[in-house]
Amino acid sequence: MKKVKLNNRNFELYISRDEIQNKISQISNKLNKEYRDKNPVFIVVLTGSIFFATDIIKSFKYDCNVQLVNAKSYGNDMESSGKVQINNLNLDIKDREIVIIEDIVDTGITLNSILNIIKKLEPKSIATVSLLSKPSRRIVKVEVEYIGFEIEDKFVIGYGMDYAELGRNLNDIYILKE
Ligand code: PRP
Repeated sequence: MKKVKLNNRNFELYISRDEIQNKISQISNKLNKEYRDKNPVFIVVLTGSIFFATDIIKSFKYDCNVQLVNAKSYGNDMESSGKVQINNLNLDIKDREIVIIEDIVDTGITLNSILNIIKKLEPKSIATVSLLSKPSRRIVKVEVEYIGFEIEDKFVIGYGMDYAELGRNLNDIYILKE
């Protein structure tokens, strides 16, 4: 079993890089079919989704735009603060087909905030792709059209996700070992 130690906390392998890449292929096939002639705007929610978003967008074979946005909710701890700020949404997305890319939907507060802001800008459609979802943690009900893995309520790191800003560069996803 692969293990890593970050800031004196122990993590063990949870989802391997192969499992992640297989899931990305499945989601990408669906996106290539659904958005082929739609010139979608991929909205990448920084920072955790960077590797997932990169893989998803590189697998999209047709015209698309990419917009990075900042949405901070966790700080350096393991719990959501409930405060969400969104910056950098500069592209005109009126009448555009929007695909939001997240690494994880936990309470749903971040995604719900983003959806509310984007809806006001009158896009033609909005869909969300998230690599991970923790349904048992949901506080706000949000629609996520493409989910990679539904996971239990455990803290995860790797493949973009951090613990106190460490671990983002791991190629697999690890879970906190109590
Ligand atoms: C994570 C994740 C989502 C959000 C999900 O971001 O990328 O944006 O938390 O949590 P929620 O459903 O409870 O709102 P985080 O704030 O940790 O920022 P980061 O991606 O920069 O690490």
